[in-house]
Amino acid sequence: MSHLLATKSIEQLRAEAAESGEHSLKRVLGPVNLISLGIGAIVGTGIFVLTGQAAAQYSGPAIVLSMLLAGLVSAFAGLCYAEFASSVPIAGSAYTYGYATLGEFFAWIIGWDLILEYALGAATVAVGWSGYVVSFLHDFGIQFPAALSAAPGTVVTLADQTTVTAVLNLPAVLIALAVTLLLVIGIQESANVNSAIVIVKVAVVLLVIVAGAAFVNRQHWVPFIPPNQGTFGAFGWSGIARAAGVIFFAYIGFDAVSTAAQEAKNPQRDMPIGILGSLAICTVLYVAVSLVMVGLVPYTQLGVPAPMAVAIDAAREQAAGTVWAGLVGVMPFLVKLGAIAGLSSVMVVMMLGQPRIFYSMAHDGLLPAWAKKIHPRFRTPHVTTIVTGCAVAVAAGFTPINILGELVSIGTLMAFVIVSLGIIFLRRRRPDVVAPFRTPWVPVVPILSATVALLLMTSLPLPTWERLLVWMALGIAIYAGYGYRHSELRKRIEAGGR
Ligand code: ALA
Repeated sequence: MSHLLATKSIEQLRAEAAESGEHSLKRVLGPVNLISLGIGAIVGTGIFVLTGQAAAQYSGPAIVLSMLLAGLVSAFAGLCYAEFASSVPIAGSAYTYGYATLGEFFAWIIGWDLILEYALGAATVAVGWSGYVVSFLHDFGIQFPAALSAAPGTVVTLADQTTVTAVLNLPAVLIALAVTLLLVIGIQESANVNSAIVIVKVAVVLLVIVAGAAFVNRQHWVPFIPPNQGTFGAFGWSGIARAAGVIFFAYIGFDAVSTAAQEAKNPQRDMPIGILGSLAICTVLYVAVSLVMVGLVPYTQLGVPAPMAVAIDAAREQAAGTVWAGLVGVMPFLVKLGAIAGLSSVMVVMMLGQPRIFYSMAHDGLLPAWAKKIHPRFRTPHVTTIVTGCAVAVAAGFTPINILGELVSIGTLMAFVIVSLGIIFLRRRRPDVVAPFRTPWVPVVPILSATVALLLMTSLPLPTWERLLVWMALGIAIYAGYGYRHSELRKRIEAGGR
C-alpha cells in the first residue's frame, strides 16, 4: 500500500525524459510561438458554439460576466501550471505533476480524469465542427441529411418547420477518424501551420467584434441579468455561475502549452509567458465577442449549432445599403470557414495529447505495455492514437454537445483543483526545487484557484456530477485491478530502491 502515495522524484522524471529518444525534440519555440500554440488550442468550440448556448439557456447577456469569471479561474490555475511547467519542464502533463507531488494514486486519478479533458474535449470539438460544416454546406445549397447530423434522439427542425429525429452525428465521426489517420501517419503540428490557423481564427473573431459592434442594438443587453426563473442555474446570478462552468470549456487548452515544455528554447522563462499570455489575449477576445453577440440578436436565438454565424447574419440584414454591406455580407462565410479550420486544429492538439498521456501511464506500468507501442515507420504511438480516435468518434457520434462539453469542463476543473493543491505539496516537499517562475502568494493563490474551480464544478448540473463519479469509480476499479499490481514504482520500492 505504501507506494500509493509515494512520489516520483523530479530528478527521476528528468532522467526518464532524457533517456527517451521520442522526447528528443528540438528546442525551437520562443515566447511568441508558445502564445500562438496556446491560442491555437484555446479558441474553438467554446467560443464558436457553447457561448451562444450558455447565453440562451443560462445567463442571457450576462454571459460577459460568466466569461470574466471563467477567465479568472483559468488565470489562477494558469499561474499554478506555469510554475509546474517551469520547474518540471518535461513530459508536461498534469499526470506527471501529480506523480511528482501527490503520489501514484493521485497521478492515476488525474491521468484518468484527463481523458475527460482531452478525448472527450476532442469529441466536443468534433460536434462543434459538424454543426459549422452542415451550416456551411447549407449555404452552398447542399442539404446534409438532418438525421445524420446530430446525436441520436435529437429533434432537428428543418427549414420548412418539419422535424426529424437524428440517429447519428456522421460529420463528427468522420472528422474524428480523419484526424486520427493524420496523427497515425505522423502529422507534425508545426509552429508555422499552427500560427497560420491562429491568425485566421483570431482575425475572424476580431472581424466579428469590429464589424458586429457597429450594429449592436443596445436593447438586446437589457435586462443584462435576466431574472432567475425559479431554479438554480436558470438565469440570475446562479445562471451566471452555471454559464461560467459551461463556457469555461472555451478557455481549456492553455495547459496544452505545458506539453511543449521540451520544445521551448527557454522553458523556464517562456512557459509562463505562453500560458499566461495566451490566456490574457483570449480573455479579452472572448469578453468582447460575447458582448457583441448578445448585442446583435436576442440571446434566446443563440442556442443553435453555429451561434456566431447567426449573430453576424443579423448584422448583415442591417448593413444592407451601408458602407459595411460588403464586409458584413461575407462575414457569415468567413466565420464558418474560420470556425471549421480553427476547430480542426484544436482537435489535432487534443488528440495528440491524449496518446502521450496514455504513453506516460503505460511507461509507469499503470496501463498495459501495448499502450506505449510506437509505430516503427511513422514513429507515432499508433495503438493509443487509434484507440483514442475510435473513442472520440463514438462519443462524438452519439452524444449531444452540451453533455460532452459539461463533462469536459467538470473533468478539467477537477484537474485544476489537483494541480493547484499540487503546488502547495511541491513547495512543502521540495523546497530545494526553485522554479524561475513561482506562483505568487502561495498558498493563497493555489487555495483560491482550487476553491473557485470547485465552486464552478458545483455550479454544473447534477447529471454531470453523476457521470463524473461513475467515470472516476471506473478508473479506480481499473487501477485496483491492474495499475496497482503492475506499477513500476511499486516494483522498485519492493525491490528496495527508488
Ligand atoms: N478551448 C477549446 C475549445 O473551445 C477546447 O474548443
